[in-house]
Order: sequence, then C-alpha cells, then structure tokens
Amino acid sequence: MSELKTKYLGLNFKNPLIIGSCGLTSSADYILKMIDFGAAGVVLKSVFEEEIIFEHEKNLKERIEKQDSNLEFLDYLDYQIKESVLKKQSQLIKDIKKDADVPVIASINCYSVGEWFSYAKLLEDAGADALELNLYRIPSKINIQAEDILKGYYEIIKRVKEHVAIPVSIKISPYFTDIGNVVAQFDMIGVNGIVMFNRYYNPDIDIENNRIASGPVYSGPNDYGDSLRWIGLLKDQVTCDLSASGGVHSADTMFKMILAGANSVQVVSAIYKNGPGYIRDLLSGVQKWMEKKDLKNIDEVHKYGRELLPNHGEVFERAQFMKYFGQHEQ
Ligand SMILES: Cc1cc2nc3c(=O)[nH]c(=O)nc-3n(C[C@H](O)[C@H](O)[C@H](O)COP(=O)(O)O)c2cc1C
Repeated sequence: MSELKTKYLGLNFKNPLIIGSCGLTSSADYILKMIDFGAAGVVLKSVFEEEIIFEHEKNLKERIEKQDSNLEFLDYLDYQIKESVLKKQSQLIKDIKKDADVPVIASINCYSVGEWFSYAKLLEDAGADALELNLYRIPSKINIQAEDILKGYYEIIKRVKEHVAIPVSIKISPYFTDIGNVVAQFDMIGVNGIVMFNRYYNPDIDIENNRIASGPVYSGPNDYGDSLRWIGLLKDQVTCDLSASGGVHSADTMFKMILAGANSVQVVSAIYKNGPGYIRDLLSGVQKWMEKKDLKNIDEVHKYGRELLPNHGEVFERAQFMKYFGQHEQ
C-alpha cells in the first residue's frame, strides 16, 4: 500500500491534504469532523486586523451616538476587542489540539506592520504549529509602486520571523509581474513555505437593486492551472516548501499538484461543495494513482514527476501553449 505521509514546513503530516483557510476552519467541531475524514492538517480562518478595527469603530460609533463620555473605556476598547478575537482563536487552537494530533496552522492578515508580529506571537503562544501570513492586499492606490509593496511584504516577513520560532509560510496571489523572483526573495529571507495561490474576493454589481454584490466565491474544477504551473516552475529553484491552493476539486488534480512538486495541497471550495466526506474520496483517489504507477511514497511521486517532466521550465512555459494552440485551428 502506498504511503501518503509528507513533510511540509518541517512538520509531519499524515498525507498532503490540508484544509485551507476559510469559514470551515473557524469551528472546532467542523475541523475535527474534517480530520476524522482524513484531513492531515488545517489552516485556520485568517484573523483580519481590519475586522478588529471595524468592530472597534462600530462600538465607538454606538457609544458616541449614545453620548457616552466614558473616554477611558473608549481608549481601552480597541485593545479589548483585539484581545477577545485573539483569545477566541487561541481557544480554537487549544480545542483542536486537545482532540486531534495534526498540525494546526494559524493565519493572519494585518494592516499595520506592528500588528503582524504581535498577532503572530500571541498565536504561537496559543500553540499554533505554524503561521501562514495571508499577504492579501489589493494595490488600489495608483501612486503606489510595486517595489514599495514588496518592500512592505519583506519587512512584515522579517519582523514576524524575528518574533516567532515556529515555521512561517506566505500565501500569495498570482498577481505579481515577477512571481518567480518574488518567491525567490521570500525564500532567501527564510520563509518555510509558499502557498500558491490565494483567491481574491470578486466584486460584482447587482444592477437590479443598485448595489455592490459578491461575485462567485468558490473556484471551479478548471481553476488549477496557475498553481500547477508555478509549482512546477519553481519547485527546483527554491529551497522552501510549496503548497498548492486553487481549483483542487478532484483526486486527479490533487495528484497532478504533487507530481508537479507540491509538498501539500490545500482544498477549500471542493469541501464547501461536496461536504467533508469528500476528503476520503480525494485521498483514496490519490492513493489509487500512486498504486497504479507503483509509487510507494510522496518522495517517489516527486521523483516520478521530475522524470516525467524532465525540464519543468519548458513544460510549464509558453512554448507548450503555442504548440497547443497550433493544433487547435478550427
Ligand atoms: C468562503 C471562503 C473564505 C475564505 N477565507 C480565507 C481566509 O480567511 N484566509 C485566506 O488566506 N484564504 C481564504 N480563502 C481562500 C482559500 O483559502 C483558498 O486559497 C481559495 O479558495 C482557493 O482554493 P480552492 O480553489 O480550493 O477554493 C477563503 C475562500 C473561501 C471560498
């Protein structure tokens, strides 16, 4: 029987399937259910600093409207909200760790540089096995330059790495001009893993009711190409681990991600759509592929991938697409 265990961020996982950060990873009961069905680890729903700021502002507004003049309390409120959100997250980590023996990765998304490492430290103290920094920021101001955005990211990573001892991964979007170089820089400053890619929230307009609406939230089964390409291209060019995220809806796609070089595969939309029992189907499907190809473990899958795709660069680059389109003229 093929062995599915893998190492990601220096941690042992019983298989490569991790539930990615989302609403499903914010309740201990649901997380434990997914672990029962075979998930090897979870990335908790991100703690967003902006949510804390928003909550603070809402409270502030209510108190001002009520003409509450307890200024001392107002001063203290921001700190209290942050404490309570982080306490809740710490309790979630403890509840999972109490009942399950799998790595728990906490995720944060902050606004101010100082908060990144303050949240990181608190979550490390709560028992998180690793941290995923969700570098989700839409560069909406047209006077901000790419170089400055990257400098900001490097600063955040360096400061977090200085403050915590647990492994740190970075979750990025596919919207960089020079993804390879960006990942190489992250690798050089010591990140333990890169998650490729985050899926941005898509806006839409409800023209019937004149309001901004949410676009499609979930990925589809054909949305895995970017992640597959960049894992294949970068696998042998960086030393940090790579985790696939985006469009993994079947065991075939999960197996392809590992073949391309992924150390772990994060799944979200497929679980929303099919329920936690689907985790078992994904894992048994990957196992079947490994057995069919006589691959005994994940290292052998990676080795097989290298042999199958001897020059990763060429296979995942443009030349292949020109060939493809050349054959589809009708
Ligand atoms: C409802 C929902 C909530 C999400 N929340 C987060 C989040 O808090 N933090 C984060 O890093 N990614 C979040 N994501 C992105 C997912 O972790 C994942 O990267 C993305 O959905 C692509 O994977 P998929 O194709 O398997 O869905 C969320 C995705 C969904 C669908």
